[in-house]
Amino acid sequence: MISQNTNIKSYNTFGIDVTAKYFGTFSSIEEIKPILQKYPNEELLLLGGGSNVLFTKDTFDGLVLVNQMKGFEVVEDTEDFAIVKSGAGEVWHEFVLNCIDRNLGGVENLSLIPGSVGASPMQNIGAYGVEIKHVFEKLEAFHIASGEVHTFSNDACEFGYRESVFKRKLKNQYIITAVYFRLTKKTKVNTSYGVIEAELAKMGVEAPSIEDVSNAVIAIRSSKLPNPKEIGNAGSFFKNPVVPISILENIQKEFPEVPNYPAGEGEVKLAAGWLIEKAGWKGKTLGHYGVHKLQALVLVNYGGATGKEIYDLSTSLIEDVKTKFGVTLEREVNIIG
Ligand code: FAD
Ligand code: EPU
Repeated sequence: MISQNTNIKSYNTFGIDVTAKYFGTFSSIEEIKPILQKYPNEELLLLGGGSNVLFTKDTFDGLVLVNQMKGFEVVEDTEDFAIVKSGAGEVWHEFVLNCIDRNLGGVENLSLIPGSVGASPMQNIGAYGVEIKHVFEKLEAFHIASGEVHTFSNDACEFGYRESVFKRKLKNQYIITAVYFRLTKKTKVNTSYGVIEAELAKMGVEAPSIEDVSNAVIAIRSSKLPNPKEIGNAGSFFKNPVVPISILENIQKEFPEVPNYPAGEGEVKLAAGWLIEKAGWKGKTLGHYGVHKLQALVLVNYGGATGKEIYDLSTSLIEDVKTKFGVTLEREVNIIG
């Protein structure tokens, strides 16, 4: 069922008040086809949990479809690993908990990331030393132009840091319908990200299970990231910038403590949150919106902000960080104009 002029505030975690010209949900490929045939000329916007989008206008002049394709199935089971197929419309965190319940390891570091399984390959979601490309087997996607279902291997997805082929060359051409993950039964937990070890020590855990790691990640995330049910946001608004070492060296002259991480030959990754904080923006509130007080990489809507206000704030941050540090921040959130 497609409705007209529908308010989709509850379908985007920024909580932007926006009206979709046409709006509907689907739970199978069979349901997609007739909808697309009926609205061939409308701009199409796919949503899962709406946790990585910012609407910048009051109306979306097209068709918004929410993927609700469900399913969790172990399709291959060996002594060492299992391949699990998940419907794209499953909630990511529920999928993670399902894997942990079955003692299948590999996604525990990605606990509590909002959104759907189907969107997870879009930007190769990552946290605490793990990205989905490390456990991704393949995906199935509906090709909008031909109506065929195509399969993409790990390589074909061209995963990078918060990147995939679906954000670049194949943008808006596919609807991801199912994702397959290769999960291990003999998991070596990954606690290399410093704060996880500290959290496990606080919990008094010495030989952590995948469930312990998940609990540690949940505790860390809950302590600094705002819960979208309480404060509108879309997680990190910008990517952490990768820059030539010369830029790092310049910043170090004034701030020897600047956090930085190796990122290939002659380059380093900087922490955008640190740059924004040092530019003086952390916790700044402008009316109903601003920069989160515990995590400067997260822009927040306290209620009633427009997408344009938040977008304009992000432009001010880009300009200021550029002036102060010579670094250009790139938005991570998908901007819907
Ligand atoms: P949406 O916001 O609904 O969509 C995102 C993009 O994918 C859009 O362009 C949409 O058109 C497209 N899309 C969605 N579903 C499909 C589909 N089935 N087929 C084709 N295209 C589709 N991300 C991280 O990587 N790491 C984090 O640690 C992290 N932490 C976060 C914390 C908070 C509090 C919040 C609010 C967000 C965080 N995010 C993080 C961002 C977000 O959770 C992820 O990007 C997530 O994968 C988005 O899923 P979604 O279903 O909400 O996608
Ligand atoms: N920092 C500051 N001030 C801040 C925020 C961060 O100084 O306001 C410093 C921290 O002290 C630390 C460094 O910046 O030294 C990195 O901070 P943190 O570990 O909190 O991670 P992040 O770089 O801000 C990234 C991801 C998150 C992911 C976490 C954990 C990006 C763009 N963001 O954040 O992903 O959860 O690491 O792995 O890569 C998302 O993509 O939406 C997201 C939340």
